[in-house]
This record gives sequence, C-alpha cells and structure tokens, in this order.
Amino acid sequence: MMRRRPLITLQRHTFHMPQPTRARQIIAAALLVASACGSPPADKAPAEQTPAATPPAPTVEKGVVAIIGTGTLAGALGPALGAQGYRVIYGSRDPNRETVRALVQRSGPKASAVTQPEAAAQAPVVVLAVPGEVVVDVAGTLGDLSGKVVIDVSGGEKKVAADGYQELTSDSARAELIQARHPTIRVVRINLPNIVYFMDPLLTKTRATVFVAGNDPKARETVANMLFDLGVDPWDSGPVRFARLFDAFNTLANIPGQQRRPEGYQVVMMPTVPFSCFFDMVQFFGFGEPTELKQLPKFPRREPAPTCEEWMRRLPPMGAPPQAL
Ligand SMILES: NC(=O)c1ccc[n+]([C@@H]2O[C@H](COP(=O)([O-])OP(=O)(O)OC[C@H]3O[C@@H](n4cnc5c(N)ncnc54)[C@H](OP(=O)(O)O)[C@@H]3O)[C@@H](O)[C@H]2O)c1
Repeated sequence: MMRRRPLITLQRHTFHMPQPTRARQIIAAALLVASACGSPPADKAPAEQTPAATPPAPTVEKGVVAIIGTGTLAGALGPALGAQGYRVIYGSRDPNRETVRALVQRSGPKASAVTQPEAAAQAPVVVLAVPGEVVVDVAGTLGDLSGKVVIDVSGGEKKVAADGYQELTSDSARAELIQARHPTIRVVRINLPNIVYFMDPLLTKTRATVFVAGNDPKARETVANMLFDLGVDPWDSGPVRFARLFDAFNTLANIPGQQRRPEGYQVVMMPTVPFSCFFDMVQFFGFGEPTELKQLPKFPRREPAPTCEEWMRRLPPMGAPPQAL
C-alpha cells in the first residue's frame, strides 16, 4: 500500500498529514514550542556569569579511565575526571617526562602515568586523546582492547575547498574506521564540546550537549554517565555511523572562527520535543524501529523529564486546525 507522505511547511505552520486532527494540532504546537525556545540571552560578559557550582567532593571511586596522550585535551579532561573521583591512568610515549608528572599531580590522588599499552590494559574505558591524524593507527598499537569502551573524540579528515571553507574528505568518521578494523572493541564517538566546559560546565550558563554514538548501547551508557559527571549533558546518538554527522557539525561550528567573527553560535538541542507523548513516530512516518530498542541505554538527566500531562498543559491553544492542502 502506498503511504501518503506528510507535507510540512514549518514557516506557515501548515500541515498535510493523514492523521487525526488532535495529533495535527499537537505537532504544530510542539514545533511552535521548539522554535520559541532560543538561546538564553547573552546579557553578561563571560566573566560576570554565574560561576560553576563547585562539584561535591567525590566520596567513592567512580571508575578507572585510561587517557592515551598527555596533550591539550588530556590536560583538561584528566584533571576534571580526577576531581570527580575517577582514577586516571595516562598513557604516554614518555611517562617520566616532567610535563607528564605535573599532569599526574593535577589529576587526583590516584592518578598515574605509564606507557600507552600499559594504560589501556589497566582500564575498562580508554580515551584516545591523540591527534586525529594518527588515532586510527594508535588504536592498533594498544594491545588487545577486546570488550573495552574506547572513546574517540577526533574530527573528520578535512581539506580547504576552493571557497576557503573546510570540506570533509571522507564519508566515514574515524570512529567507524576504528570499529571496522577492531570489531571486538566497543568504540564510542563523542563530539567534544570546547574543552573549557570541562573546566567550567556553566561558563555560558547552558550546559553543553555532547552527542554519544556507538554500536553498543551499554557502552554509550557508560560514556554518558562519565560525561554527566563532568557537567555536560549527553545525548544518545545511536550507532557509530552517526559520528559522520558530528564531523559535519564540527565543520559547521568552525565557520564563525574562519569568518573571524567575534561571536560564535549557541545551538540548543531540545531534548524533549514530546512527539512520543501524542503519537508513534515509528508507525506514523514509517521511520523504522531500532533493533536495539530492548537494550536502550539509560542516559542520565539532571531533572526529571516533563510528563506528557505536563506537556499537554504547557502547549499553547492552537485554535482551529490548519486546512489540509
Ligand atoms: N574539543 C576541544 O576543545 C578539543 C581541544 C583539543 C583537542 N581536541 C581533540 O583531542 C584530540 C587530541 O588533541 P590534543 O590537542 O590533545 O593533541 P596534542 O596536544 O597534540 O596531544 C596529543 C598527545 O598524544 C600523544 N601523541 C602525539 N603523537 C602521537 C603518536 N604519533 N602516537 C602516539 N601518541 C601520540 C602525545 O602524548 P605523549 O607525548 O605523552 O605520548 C601528545 O601529547 C584530537 O582529536 C583533537 O581534535 C579537542
């Protein structure tokens, strides 16, 4: 049977869908709510903004994390994890270097540094904090990582196009390449926010959303909990192939800097456009049902999600439904 495709014209809030009137009204209302929720006003200079809440002193050890590399990212992530009660083991090509020792000092009482394969062997979670150009190869030098959660943060391969903007040169994200080369590793790709958010998660008032993609739902959950502890808000982004979208998104995010604009953009992902309260998107649009649905990871939230009843109450009255085209 031919499915009638819905026609949606967002600007005019007109909808042509073969669904009950109430659902049509709700969708329109939900889109209005989503579009009305912009970025919070940037009415204060960053220095005047609400200071980050001091994280409570960790009482229990949260887990062991190996960070491969001791550069810029490791220098922000390791101390932040250490402050949250994680035991950080740095993997360095030269673990006795003075800068590495200083980093260990800043990373909590249980932090240490060893060689890269030694660090990876000692932790169930391994962060690849090495340059993107070498990350796929480095993943292959760390010994047997079977079953471990291996976090890739690297952006995609890019070149400068004729118009001066960046262009991705590969259809696959590096995380996908690592996963394809090492099928027994549980690769999780995150789109890191700027590392300043690990030093002050509330620097710009709104917590950064961090996409988390990986083929194993439990691995995504592990990483989500770690990110939550670091003060950013994880978003379940499905299997690892969605990492390609992060690469595209990160390239987009570089544009203000390339244009030398003094301002950046704050993209707000709305975690609760509540379609699921009102109709089943999978059936209605024929989107497909994820095969992992029964193992869906539990991503942490800072506040409980509004209930469907609450959304019903919040949605503005819509008046008469728009005429179908
Ligand atoms: N979102 C953000 O704000 C942000 C900021 C910075 C970086 N990043 C991302 O984080 C990743 C790491 O970047 P980074 O700036 O931290 O890099 P970096 O400062 O150059 O440090 C990378 C570390 O990896 C190790 N390393 C370097 N070359 C290696 C090789 N050939 N083989 C094995 N290990 C090697 C080194 O540690 P040892 O000398 O101790 O072995 C080095 O300190 C990249 O994917 C980058 O895009 C994101």
